[in-house]
Amino acid sequence: MYFDFAEFSPNQAYFTMTQTLVPRPIAWVLTENAAGDYNLAPFSYFNAVCSDPPLVMLSIGRKPDGSPKDTRVNIEQRGHFVAHIAHREQAKPMTESSATLDYGDSELARLGLDTVPFQGFGLPRLADCRVAFACERYEIREIGNARQTLLLGLVKSVYVDDAAVTTDAKGRTKIDAARIDPLGRLGGGEYSTMEGVVTVPRPA
Ligand SMILES: Cc1cc2nc3c(=O)[nH]c(=O)nc-3n(C[C@H](O)[C@H](O)[C@H](O)COP(=O)(O)O)c2cc1C
Repeated sequence: MYFDFAEFSPNQAYFTMTQTLVPRPIAWVLTENAAGDYNLAPFSYFNAVCSDPPLVMLSIGRKPDGSPKDTRVNIEQRGHFVAHIAHREQAKPMTESSATLDYGDSELARLGLDTVPFQGFGLPRLADCRVAFACERYEIREIGNARQTLLLGLVKSVYVDDAAVTTDAKGRTKIDAARIDPLGRLGGGEYSTMEGVVTVPRPA
């Protein structure tokens, strides 16, 4: 079967894109607002786009009222963010953190998530995540009819849980994906794990 995007509404295009470009990595993004409160939200329009310099991209839509999402505002204002890779046991809090809260009402406090200092960086990282990228704002562009934010982040350093760092037969460092046990996004409320598919409904 072929799907012709020329006949699609933006919603149909979204559902077709997000159910075919699978599994997608999920950036669980921690930012800080002007008052110093931490904000956390997941983004699966996320990937590595360059190695020299090391860049990751996020594509951030708008809130239903058309205003920019807090993650974009915070990165624009503060210039930095931490992108975590969530593991299987974090499927529920990661999904829950996509709920819209009032300004200054922190997902971290609501979900009971602990942070620890990120060595050499101005933001903390989630204590329980096995991979975290310390990023600085590199470039922000608006794309598409809905004025989506294409945000490039420069990776300054990456934290990897010691338990996932191994050495191969030639003595080279190897990161063990099974120990990271990353969640990948499939369509709708489905997520891939190293073992199969889990379903986690989005918060109301
Ligand atoms: C797994 C998952 C992936 C998501 N990916 C994106 C995405 O790539 N872009 C986006 O704009 N929103 C995405 N969302 C929705 C945002 O997380 C949600 O709008 C959130 O409230 C934004 O928070 P903020 O306003 O604090 O930035 C995703 C939600 C989930 C559960």
